[in-house]
Amino acid sequence: MKVAILISSRGSNMQALVRASKQAGFPAEIVTVLSNNPEAGGLEYAKENGIPTKVINHRDFENREDFDTAISKYLTEQKVDLICLAGFMRLLTLDFVNRWRDRIINIHPSLLPAFKGLHVHERALESGTRFTGCTVHYVRPEMDDGPIIAQAVVPILTGDTPEVLAERILVQEHRIYPLALKLIAERKIKVHGSIATISGADESLATLTNPLVISDAD
Ligand code: GRF
Repeated sequence: MKVAILISSRGSNMQALVRASKQAGFPAEIVTVLSNNPEAGGLEYAKENGIPTKVINHRDFENREDFDTAISKYLTEQKVDLICLAGFMRLLTLDFVNRWRDRIINIHPSLLPAFKGLHVHERALESGTRFTGCTVHYVRPEMDDGPIIAQAVVPILTGDTPEVLAERILVQEHRIYPLALKLIAERKIKVHGSIATISGADESLATLTNPLVISDAD
């Protein structure tokens, strides 16, 4: 499975995906890392690790449609099967999302459908919830919406700041994103309407919301 990773900044999730993809027998290949931001720190890491990079700067386009058309054209030329959004900070047009339906996934630092959008950790702390986490999901036209592939639960601890909480969640993001990609590349994920199920999986995979189980797949 040929995979493109779209980033806008540091790209730590991209790095986790690249590291996983280099393990023997991993069923997906990262064929390109694309950024809308020429200054994205993650581009350097990709280059150093032999992954082709591409910058398509949204500022060079008059509107969202033209920018998305350019991305789509590039990804099609690269024969990409799956797009992984990893901190890609541009909203995608309806046309783009529909064109890549069930071939585009995203990671979000909350237990969706809770806390969609920005300032996620601040809002989680203000809400008083005891648990938050992260979610890998298929992308649908609504922001941070779509069938859930993998989640990890992270506790909120006394004295947490948004920054501390973000760091704790990021550790789990780096585990579940490669796991979700592996499951998709193994064709184990089936989408039925708004629900994604893991087919052909044993019971232990059905409990992959448990970070302790996820660590087995590292
Ligand atoms: C992550 O927290 C991810 O969940 C969110 O944006 C952040 C990107 O971080 N979508 P990085 O660029 O992968 O380090």
